[in-house]
Amino acid sequence: MQPAVVAHRGASAHAAEHTLAAYDLALAQGADALECDVRLTRDGHLVCVHDRRVDRTTNSRGVVSTLSLADLAMLDYGGEIGVLTLDALLGLAKDHGSRLFIETKHPVRYGGLVETKLVALLARHGLAEPAAKEDSPVVVMSFSTLAVRRVRAAAPRLPTVLLVTQLWPTLRDGTLPPWADHTGPGIGLLRRDPDYVARAADHGHATYCWTVDEPDDVMLCANIGVRWLATNAPAATRAVLGAG
Ligand code: G3P
Ligand code: CA
Repeated sequence: MQPAVVAHRGASAHAAEHTLAAYDLALAQGADALECDVRLTRDGHLVCVHDRRVDRTTNSRGVVSTLSLADLAMLDYGGEIGVLTLDALLGLAKDHGSRLFIETKHPVRYGGLVETKLVALLARHGLAEPAAKEDSPVVVMSFSTLAVRRVRAAAPRLPTVLLVTQLWPTLRDGTLPPWADHTGPGIGLLRRDPDYVARAADHGHATYCWTVDEPDDVMLCANIGVRWLATNAPAATRAVLGAG
């Protein structure tokens, strides 16, 4: 089975990341699923922003967690005015029947508030208790073990992915702690250790690999059985998979 193509911050190679335009383009390019990062604003709203600061992606400067939703709503995100809220992105994903991989950032700063707010928002959308993990419209991910554990405790039925840049000793044989369903290695890790995907599969875990834009890497992921492949360029990635 070919990997599912996940649009990383939308089709962010060709549209400003984390904008509605980027997600619309991703869907038009045939992405199977969408990825976003979430941070908390000063007044407690979950917004789709990768960096701690808005400097790189907007016409302004400042730290997301010190700005209000109203502050962020006035900024220009590469041609689109207004920050994309997770609430709005969940609506878009639902309208298109598209799975959303949500990555929580800065887990320590708020002592669990990000995860609590996230699960509450998912509950409002009727997404916090999927009938089957395999079909869940939402998957929650983090590099933080603390964040993944909190999500598992608050919403045990939600599928979780533990993102990793390297395999610490207890992960090397393909096993995972009970609070994580799958792993999310970076492409660099799989170039060094492509057999990891099979070891994880032997223990019932699928692999989500990020961020895969080079054709050789796309084919590597396909050949070793990666389940989800996060890319900035969904159409090009799909073309490589189709030609392979
Ligand atoms: O999809 C996971 C990947 O996005 C993690 O890295 O820095 O792009 O959030 P980053
Ligand atoms: Ca991310």
